Amino acid sequence: MNITFCCTNTKAEPWLQGLRAALPGAHVEEWSPGAPSADHAVVWAPPQQFFDEQSQLRGVFNIGAGVDALLKLRLQAQASVVRLDDAGMSVQMAEYVCHAVIRHFREFDGYEADVKTGKWSYRKPRSRADFPVGVMGLGVLGERVARALRVFEFPVNGWSRSAKAVEGVRGFSGAAQFNDFLAATKVLVCLLPLTPDTRDIMRRETLSRLQHGGYVINVARGAHLVEEDLLALIDSGHLCGATLDVFRTEPLPGGHPFWQHPQITVTPHTSARTLREESIAQIAGKILALEQGQAIAGRVDTLRGY
Ligand code: NAP
Ligand code: GLV
Repeated sequence: MNITFCCTNTKAEPWLQGLRAALPGAHVEEWSPGAPSADHAVVWAPPQQFFDEQSQLRGVFNIGAGVDALLKLRLQAQASVVRLDDAGMSVQMAEYVCHAVIRHFREFDGYEADVKTGKWSYRKPRSRADFPVGVMGLGVLGERVARALRVFEFPVNGWSRSAKAVEGVRGFSGAAQFNDFLAATKVLVCLLPLTPDTRDIMRRETLSRLQHGGYVINVARGAHLVEEDLLALIDSGHLCGATLDVFRTEPLPGGHPFWQHPQITVTPHTSARTLREESIAQIAGKILALEQGQAIAGRVDTLRGY
């Protein structure tokens, strides 16, 4: 069995060594133009030339959860496209979002500023009931985040395409219930895949429907958010801030207003990183399962876009 590895912005050697150790019977090589046809590919943002040349692939394993960049390419129809299915990401995402929600709710940003000026002052305790959190996307990551927020006793709303029951979470589904979901939410968390249906989903019209004093946490993709609309709604006082891990242009360009904005916290697309060992173990297990004709989790519906 031949496996080809083509991941931009990733050091190949540790992945090649790990894949060889996990699949001792396989021949694993880094792709270069003109390389022989492989049976499976492990990829992140490969060039179109990769798919144009690799016409015999049975499995294409993306070393991330989001496949929006991959699905922009012309893929071979016969290959199963498989995304990372948690592989250590959901706990990181739960940490990140709970941290952002709690930092905002407990006003730790205000305390940090006070400490810098030597000020000792208390803020009044706030009620969780006034901070309902709405998680858009209740998939592998969103469901874990919603459950983690419930542990801290926040009221949690969840919105997904199909109806989904998560204990303790008020469920909304489909376009028909989107406005009700927004109206019931003060802190909005985006964990949707980027598809034609979800691009620009956080824009003036939708963000205006959040409860007054709303807060936005985007950990999915930058193109879910219309950045100028967020800034305008913070300026108007309808929203009081945001924590953003993803941006329409990454790295976030120097001079972008988000860098210095006092109500916006920026991190460099790091909320849930791909963990190499966990990912290799998962991908190797799925390659073997596919070869034996078994069903595997994490197959992408390329028409649906996630
Ligand atoms: P997932 O398992 O595919 O879950 C996607 C969820 O979104 C599902 O609940 C799905 O509904 C819902 N959804 C999709 N389209 C929708 C629509 N039009 N309306 C309403 N709900 C819709 O994805 P995941 O593994 O949780 O990951 C989510 C995203 O997080 C990824 O696509 C990626 O972009 C992002 N991500 C970011 C980082 C980072 O470091 N910032 C790391 C990993 C992932 P159904 O349940 O009904 O299908
Ligand atoms: C990271 O953004 C991922 O999609 O895994």
